[in-house]
Amino acid sequence: MIVLGIESSCDETGVAVVKDGKKILSNVVASSLKIHSKHGGVVPEIASRLQLESIAGVFSEAIKIAKIKPEQIDLVSVTAGPGLPGSLLVGISFAKALALSLGRPILGINHIHSHVYANILCHSNIKTPCAALVVSGGHTTLFYIEDFSKIKILGQTRDDACGEAFDKVAKIMGMGYPGGPLIEKLAKGANDRKIKFACCGTDNELDFSFSGIKTAVLYYLKDRKAGAKLKKDLAASFQESAINALVKKSLLACKRKGVKNFLVGGGVAVNSCLRQKFAVDFKKNGVNCFFPTVNLCLDNAAMVAGLADYLYKQGLRSDLNLNMELN
Ligand code: KG4
Ligand code: ZN
Repeated sequence: MIVLGIESSCDETGVAVVKDGKKILSNVVASSLKIHSKHGGVVPEIASRLQLESIAGVFSEAIKIAKIKPEQIDLVSVTAGPGLPGSLLVGISFAKALALSLGRPILGINHIHSHVYANILCHSNIKTPCAALVVSGGHTTLFYIEDFSKIKILGQTRDDACGEAFDKVAKIMGMGYPGGPLIEKLAKGANDRKIKFACCGTDNELDFSFSGIKTAVLYYLKDRKAGAKLKKDLAASFQESAINALVKKSLLACKRKGVKNFLVGGGVAVNSCLRQKFAVDFKKNGVNCFFPTVNLCLDNAAMVAGLADYLYKQGLRSDLNLNMELN
């Protein structure tokens, strides 16, 4: 079965072709990030206008790279949400027009679930039930996955998402957008124990809170003149505390649910310190921890097509009334 995936939940426009649920024939992503970085964050109106301009070209390229004709597509899948409304609408409208013109079924896909599913495209030895963490610019959510059609939220952020905290701390420190990769770069080789930051407690132990730690960075810098060395240590200390909170709660989720497999997904999962800390601590606790490859951590359409293949085979269907799901 050949599945076309479309992803346009934030600033990216992605189109991918996936064969038999596993083989990525193409995975094209056009990003308008450079334009947004001037504004210190994604400007929704600019994002959707650029997506409207680029989506047809991205589709043609994905089809060309996959060496297929549009008529060979068996299923059209598209991110239905959560995401920016204008951006989601571009992808959904394109998907509907395509499904209608080709006479093929259409399936709307949850963006956060697809971030977890990216792992299935990269590894063949993942068994369900398992637990998962999606850590991105918009979400920090722990899931229990009985299988990919039965996903339950165990905990989520009460305020900022982890990636959002990286972006805001970078902004406070006078750096660009997106802040995650910049903080990681600045933190390299620095003393991550120089400043003790702690994430706030939450009523549900599996929830997260990152806004306090971001404010702590703000006040730390307000109170003193930080030189280059201290700024590096600050970035490293912030990164260390944020990652520690993710690891601790993820391990707790595994313990509570009694699972031995854990999947991490989303843009922040690109972070090499995060990957290393999860790998070491999970091994110590006897839990297998999986990550997607870097290009499948960030927003892309292959993860959408992959999950769509699975859910379609489970009997899930959408129709041309498909609408955005903002939550
Ligand atoms: O999953 P994603 O591409 O888009 C959303 O669905 O949000 O994630 C983007 C987020 C941004 O907040 C960005 O700063 C963060 O992922 N990010 C990182 C790194 N690379 C991207 N955070 C920490 N370290 C990184 N290397
Ligand atoms: Zn995402």
